[in-house]
Amino acid sequence: MALGGTGGLRGGVAIGELAVVAHRADDSLRRTDGSRLRAPTAGCRLLATRSRQYCLAVDRFVLHPSGPLHGTVCVNGAKNSVLKLMAACLLAPGVHRLDNVPVISDVAIMSDVLRAMGAKVVQEGRGAQGHLQITIPQDVTPIAPYELVEKMRASIVVLGPLLARYGTARVSMPGGDDFGYRPIDFHLSAFEDLGATFVAEHGYVDGHCDHLVGARIVLQFPSHTATDNILMAAVLAKGTTVIENAAREPEIADLASMLTEMGARIHGAGTSRIEVEGVDELRPADHRAIPDRVEAATFVAAVGLAGGEVLVKGARHEHMDMLLEKLRQMGMECTPTDEGLLASAEGHRHSVDVATLPYPGVATDYKPLLVTLLSVADGVAIVSENLFAGRFRYIDELRRMGAKIKTEGHHAIVRGVPRLSGARVRASDIRAGAALVLAGIVADGVTDVSGAEHIDRGYESLDQRLSALGANIERVSSP
Ligand code: EPU
Repeated sequence: MALGGTGGLRGGVAIGELAVVAHRADDSLRRTDGSRLRAPTAGCRLLATRSRQYCLAVDRFVLHPSGPLHGTVCVNGAKNSVLKLMAACLLAPGVHRLDNVPVISDVAIMSDVLRAMGAKVVQEGRGAQGHLQITIPQDVTPIAPYELVEKMRASIVVLGPLLARYGTARVSMPGGDDFGYRPIDFHLSAFEDLGATFVAEHGYVDGHCDHLVGARIVLQFPSHTATDNILMAAVLAKGTTVIENAAREPEIADLASMLTEMGARIHGAGTSRIEVEGVDELRPADHRAIPDRVEAATFVAAVGLAGGEVLVKGARHEHMDMLLEKLRQMGMECTPTDEGLLASAEGHRHSVDVATLPYPGVATDYKPLLVTLLSVADGVAIVSENLFAGRFRYIDELRRMGAKIKTEGHHAIVRGVPRLSGARVRASDIRAGAALVLAGIVADGVTDVSGAEHIDRGYESLDQRLSALGANIERVSSP
């Protein structure tokens, strides 16, 4: 299939039209003359009139100190599973159904990535009832355009399925983000091992192959998304693929389980050696995503800060072992039950050192939550970031709230203070934003967390769910 420019498109929309045709949020950001109002940001609330004169409201969370939290909260489906499950649908034409899909903006962006390729995506319900119906046509437009990839770098996971099924893919190269430089070299070199060739030009990477052929791929680092991407390519490759030093996150086992339902032959997903025997074709799936361990951790950490007792329903303790061990060392009770995880805490936490590592180590996604807990714990802790060098940006915001944290390279030294002090702060990414919200639950005075759109990327109604547990939080929009 011919690529390159809009002339090669089939059954979809031209890249130049995508902003208007395929993406509602982006469409909302254009004036009637077609000029862009501002850079598109998922989660910005739209105050639109039919005359298409738009103005944007960027939401914030405003918090006052709360007492202990009590009650039950249900964990939603895992964002980092659902996004890959959605991409996996590209591997088989027909109607797929995904259950336990949260209403978050990253799912909306991935839906638009699939729509831009010609798929039909319908999302209904919320929370545990949230689901997606994804209809994949026989032929898709194998392009992930800049307008969407720049909003969500995880869109890169369409590369594997597109190469495997269509032998061609044109994907905008993800840029740097709030964590610093994040290359995709592991993905590309693995696809080259499977027989694909790439040309990078005009900000896009164009991949081609006659067909992929199984190979032994050794990852330099157990990259989560690279493992997902290679897995999705290998299921339709000719022969056997072995992924050595594969990432072991539960979301990878979840993806493998959906691919197996589709007819793929996979052994060892969830371990560091995955073997895939390629098949000729796959069928549509009906799959329920696993619960989100980072979301579960967010509610547990909230209890660690505010005290109280909360049942985090649906949380799988076996996906969070190392984190729970750290929280117990800090003086929390985290008890697995038939329904999920019972988190309780009284008084102050104690400081413990933390180093992030690939799964099953303490995930980098938990780190902002842990640093917030440590900032009001008794003692001094050293927190080392081993995955993303730039993932310390929120620390400046915590400092503005009175936290005593020094950073040195990829280490942070956190000296606990008795109390944080409410301030205006800004969320720079999903997890940093959630951590600042938690800080606001226990800080003196008013905490105003702007950048709610970052939090909305990964959490459905975080404010309402925390409020139901007793947190004093409201969502407000600034004109
Ligand atoms: N890396 C490379 N080259 C590559 C790929 C990765 O050098 O081609 C490096 C990265 O720069 C990083 C390390 O390898 O230093 C690990 O990155 P990894 O690829 O594992 O991260 P990811 O797959 O891009 C996923 C999650 C992140 C989560 C990390 C680590 C998704 C969509 N994202 O990212 O989640 O922090 O794994 O567990 O699955 C979030 O949910 O907020 C989030 C950022």
